Amino acid sequence: MNHFLDLHTTDATELRGMIDAARSMKDARNGRPRGAPDDTQPLAGRMVALVFEKPSTRTRVSFDLGVRQMGGETMVLSGSEMQLGHGETIADTARVLSRYVDLIMIRTFEEAVLQEMAEYASVPVINGLTNSSHPCQIMADVMTYEEHRGPIAGRRVVWAGDGNNVCASFLHAAGQFGFDLTFTGPPQLDPDPAPVGFARDRGRSITIERDAARAVEGADLVVTDTWVSMHDSQSARERRHNLLRPYQITTELMARATPDALFMHCLPAHRGEEVTSEVMDGPQSVIFDEAENRLHAQKAILRWCLQV
Ligand code: CP
Ligand code: NVA
Repeated sequence: MNHFLDLHTTDATELRGMIDAARSMKDARNGRPRGAPDDTQPLAGRMVALVFEKPSTRTRVSFDLGVRQMGGETMVLSGSEMQLGHGETIADTARVLSRYVDLIMIRTFEEAVLQEMAEYASVPVINGLTNSSHPCQIMADVMTYEEHRGPIAGRRVVWAGDGNNVCASFLHAAGQFGFDLTFTGPPQLDPDPAPVGFARDRGRSITIERDAARAVEGADLVVTDTWVSMHDSQSARERRHNLLRPYQITTELMARATPDALFMHCLPAHRGEEVTSEVMDGPQSVIFDEAENRLHAQKAILRWCLQV
């Protein structure tokens, strides 16, 4: 069963194949209208369930559109409106959905929910974000970097701010795609040791630098994310803002990176908090390419899961 649960649990050659396939499929659309079908319809006759236990704009729209472009159909389900949100177990939900649909994409809280869904589903399961990781996002980010600057292997990425779920997937990607990563943020918000260890075990240099200006010196790519994630308690908001303020991405900070460094943010962004509008809308920013590439990368992931 080809579940797409995390970057570190998916073979690196397979991941590379998905990025290459995504680029070919993007090229093949050749600027046609968004709603127009692809020339090939590999998902014809397939039904995909998109389950959301947290809000979403990009993941929801890009998966829905991608399935339709490939000839399939979707059901978008909100966790709170399902029996799942009212006491039915994940295992039973997985077994029931598997009788109706050909693939399940789920955005949830605990990693354990995703794992249980995959264990009991008899159809492929895709991780659409958990508290611990966001692999679909980083597939789009790797694709985006390479479209603009060529191979990401051997480059140095700086992650600034909270060592959160998106940061964890970047660390997994460092191990799988062969780039180095510097984390710059306060010690209270360091990344989880497991993804750091994964990348280091694969021979990558993963460093921690508390001084943001020193960290971005000579970086090829600077990445940040919201200071308060969907799973973080709102009561921690002020404390997090105080801790993270020195790590805001500004034009002055970007000027310390290499002249052709790119800026990424998975979005949604809080302009004026983790990043200034000047950087978001500046010449180094590729944030909307990242958002678009969610569509193309996930189409390749869907095809890999279904082997079509
Ligand atoms: N980046 C991302 O996953 O965005 P959404 O929360 O809008 O899906
Ligand atoms: N770290 C953010 C990413 C949103 C796409 C969150 O989990 O809320």
